[in-house]
Amino acid sequence: ILPFRTSDDVVDEDRRGFVKKMALTALTVGVGGAAIQSARFFKPNVLYEPSKAFKVGELSKFPIGSRIVIEGRGIEIVRERDGMHAISLVCTHLGCLIKPVENDPDTGYMCPCHGSTFTLTGGVLGGPAPKDLPWYEMYMDNTGALVVDTSKVNHKRTKLAV
Ligand code: FES
Repeated sequence: ILPFRTSDDVVDEDRRGFVKKMALTALTVGVGGAAIQSARFFKPNVLYEPSKAFKVGELSKFPIGSRIVIEGRGIEIVRERDGMHAISLVCTHLGCLIKPVENDPDTGYMCPCHGSTFTLTGGVLGGPAPKDLPWYEMYMDNTGALVVDTSKVNHKRTKLAV
């Protein structure tokens, strides 16, 4: 014998089913969100890796003799008579952003954290920084924009001929 069911029972079952589905969805979203946040805590770039190759602008933006810091990227674009290069402004000791030497920026850079000093081409003058500042590969794309690729260190320190 089948149990007798009224239309109210059917509505109740539909409601219960709906509530179960909503609870399951909320649980899934909550657990998934917590997992993502945990992953980002331990490895911040796990879900968002900013592009390591990026455009810095047209050549006209960099007149000969200019040294232009690219905000948010920790690099400086230097243009000289014989070419241009991109140099990291991230201290090789513990990663602070270095700055031009105060009152005498033509002598090089200084790290505000522990006092390392570097030449204008990135050579270490005084520690505790263990290594020179890297130069990154730079090229001009087919639209005429200058591109810096921070995934490729320019070990030979060759300037981009422009
Ligand atoms: Fe630059 Fe320590 S982080 S000297």
